[in-house]
Amino acid sequence: MTSISPIDKPITIVAISGSLRPNSSNHAVLNVVKEIIGDRAKFTQFEGLTDIPAFDDNPNPVRAVFDFRNLLREADGVLICSPEYAFGIPGALKNAIDWTVSSGELVNKPLALITAATGGEKAHAAWLLVFTALSANMPDGSMLHLPYIRSKLNQNGQINNPEILKTIENVVDSLIITINQTRNRIE
Ligand SMILES: Cc1cc2nc3c(=O)[nH]c(=O)nc-3n(C[C@H](O)[C@H](O)[C@H](O)COP(=O)(O)O)c2cc1C
Repeated sequence: MTSISPIDKPITIVAISGSLRPNSSNHAVLNVVKEIIGDRAKFTQFEGLTDIPAFDDNPNPVRAVFDFRNLLREADGVLICSPEYAFGIPGALKNAIDWTVSSGELVNKPLALITAATGGEKAHAAWLLVFTALSANMPDGSMLHLPYIRSKLNQNGQINNPEILKTIENVVDSLIITINQTRNRIE
């Protein structure tokens, strides 16, 4: 029987939006990400942030935490797309990430970060600290700060500005290159 080499398995990328708002501009960014990825990877958008309880370090957490950790563990790469709220990072996403600190799903994980907000520099800097603390693999080319995001949406709430599309494409390309390098090294 021939076994499938890990290198032959399709790449999996899990994306998480830090915004739970309807008509979120971060969701609009993730729609672009999904389109750019196309058939280069299996793209999964995690939608379960509101199911994750406040972090309490319970060694036997509820199923939602278990499933979240599993999803991240199995992913070849993770893409975070986050707004800035009150000069900080969104609480629901930070809370979910806190559940991975002891279990280590993001250690060495290829990770892309897009901070899309009105300003966003504080949240971007804070996320960089968080993911550095978690030892994620964060190539410079996969870190993108997108300010004035609302002004970049068209009347249908979509992003179609060619310059912005190109910068998002560069992030995705960088993430996929890093994932492939990581998989080659493991192989
Ligand atoms: C409660 C709240 C607080 C906000 N605080 C900030 C902020 O501190 N800095 C900033 O750049 N934008 C701030 N904004 C504006 C958001 O960056 C902007 O609304 C962005 O579109 C939010 O992303 P979303 O559309 O994906 O939810 C805030 C928005 C809300 C709703």
